[in-house]
Formats: sequence, structure tokens, C-alpha cells
Amino acid sequence: MVTTNKAVRVFAPAKVNLILRVLDRRPDGYHNLWSLMQTVELVDELQLRLRSDSGGLKLSCDEATVPTDGRNLVARAVALVLERAGLSVGLDVHIAKRIPMGGGLGGGSSDAAAAIIGLNRLLGLGWSASEMAAVGQTIGSDVPFFLFAPCAVVRGRGEAVSPLGLTGKRWVVLVNPGFPIETRWAYERLAGSRKAVRPLSEALGRISVTSALSWDNVIPLMENDFEEALAPTHGVLGSIKAELMAQGAEAALLSGSGATVFGIFRDEDAAMCAQSVVGRVEGRRASVCRTGSGPLSCSEEPSRPLPVG
Ligand code: C5P
Repeated sequence: MVTTNKAVRVFAPAKVNLILRVLDRRPDGYHNLWSLMQTVELVDELQLRLRSDSGGLKLSCDEATVPTDGRNLVARAVALVLERAGLSVGLDVHIAKRIPMGGGLGGGSSDAAAAIIGLNRLLGLGWSASEMAAVGQTIGSDVPFFLFAPCAVVRGRGEAVSPLGLTGKRWVVLVNPGFPIETRWAYERLAGSRKAVRPLSEALGRISVTSALSWDNVIPLMENDFEEALAPTHGVLGSIKAELMAQGAEAALLSGSGATVFGIFRDEDAAMCAQSVVGRVEGRRASVCRTGSGPLSCSEEPSRPLPVG
């Protein structure tokens, strides 16, 4: 006797913060944010396959340093979706990992969002992006954004997401200095190193209520509050930024709480040249990709007959 098992494949892109303002600390210990986030075409790939048993999740990853137990945000996402849907299933999830961890590129959060999207399709739940984001926000601050990708203004702790259209494409050079920065530590460092919270500018207030933007509008506004806070302990981040600008980047910035610094380029050749020059330093990893242009994509895999019994 044979049965078929259904599978989907979801591509989970990295993100960069084109603007990241860290505002006041909230009673729950988190900080309110104002961020303009954009996906880039550096992607993890998740394959989710239903098994014929109801033995829960088996998670695997091609990168040995990625935990495959309850610490992985994908495991938490799967548990939450199944709990909310009132289902118990057998599920294999495999992650092909391309986004560096601890890099400020949201890889773990994107994987979690991809798992929610994949399960929504696989189990025929019919949840809207907002319903998926409600599950995602309990997993991590960056997860809701990925359910409204490719570009959005994100506020609150990360749960208030307003998608917007950023017209045109750019090339992005991502430079990882070769060490991670722990998010919690970076927030503590930022909170301890400043005397007051700088209010949001009028320009950002205007972006909050717009539905479309151009790169020419965004580039002069690019900033990240973590840069100043991390400068005394991580001087190399400022050096990488200066090197990217010297290579002709329109703008260069730390992403999230680091440690990846990225440069925005109009031209592919200049981006490739910057990658090789700035990435030449030992320990650094540099890559070039385009900015993302669509939502996270989910496709059904052909069913595979499995012998049973
Ligand atoms: O959301 P995530 O679990 O990645 O956050 C890790 C830590 O970073 C939190 O425990 C908190 O200390 C800090 N954080 C914050 N404000 C945010 C997001 C994160 O203070 N909006």
C-alpha cells in the first residue's frame, strides 16, 4: 500500500534596515522601533514535508552550527501554528542555510516566517498575512515584517507593519566582519550609552504615511542608531562603512544590531568590485545581491509516493 506525502518549498530572504531608529524602552523591556526594512536576494530555503504519522517536527539543517532543537525559531513557529490550528501532525523541515547568523540580517526570523507560510499552505489553513503575523510576533520582533515583504515601515516592537512600494532596484554588498553581535547585548549597550531619545524627524513621519517611495528619497535618510552605540567597542564596523563609501556606494550602513554592514550600489560592476576589495580582508565575508522585489514565495513540491507498513 502506498500513500503520498505533501511538501512545499519556501524561500526565506535576508533583510536590511535602510533606516533604524531605536526609540523609548517599553514597560515589557523591549524598545519601540521605527524602521524601514527591505528584503535582499540572499535566501535560505525551507522544505516542509508532511509525514503520514503524527510524531511532530523533525528539523534538519545543512549548516552544522545552526541548532535544530527548540532554540531554532522554526521549531517555535511550527509549535505555535499547530497549537493555534489545533492539529498534531508529523512534519519534516529541512533548512538550506545561506544567511549568516548573528549578522543583523534577520535570517532566523525569516526562516520562522517561511515556516508559518509553508504550514499555512500545507495544512490549508487559509490564514491572512495579518493572522500569520499575529503568530509570528510572539516568536521575534522581525518575524511580522517578513509576512509583508519586500519593503515596509515597521513600528512598535516590530508588530506594526505598513508595507510600502520602494520603486527601482539596487545592488547590495553585504560585508560580515567575521563575528556576530548579540541583539540583547547591543540594545543594552545602546540604552546605556545615550542620555535621551532623539525624536523622529519630520521626514520619517512623512514616510510613515506614504505608500510609495523612491531610492533617491531614501538614500539621504539612511541611518541606524546602533552605529554610534557600537562605535567604541566595534570600530571595524565604521571602517567597513568608510571602505564601502570609498568604493562608490550611494550609502552604507550597519544592518539591525549588526554585525553586517551593507552598501547600496546602482551599478552591478561597482558592487562586484566593492565586494572583492572590501571583502579581501581576512575573516570578512562579502557577498553581492539584488534588493528583493516580491513576497516570500511558496511552491508545492510534487508528491512522492512512500511505502507504508
Ligand atoms: O526580538 P528578539 O528576541 O530578537 O530580541 C532579542 C532582545 O533584544 C530582546 O530580548 C530585547 O532585550 C532586545 N530588544 C529590544 N527591543 C526590540 C527588540 C529587541 O529591546 N524591539
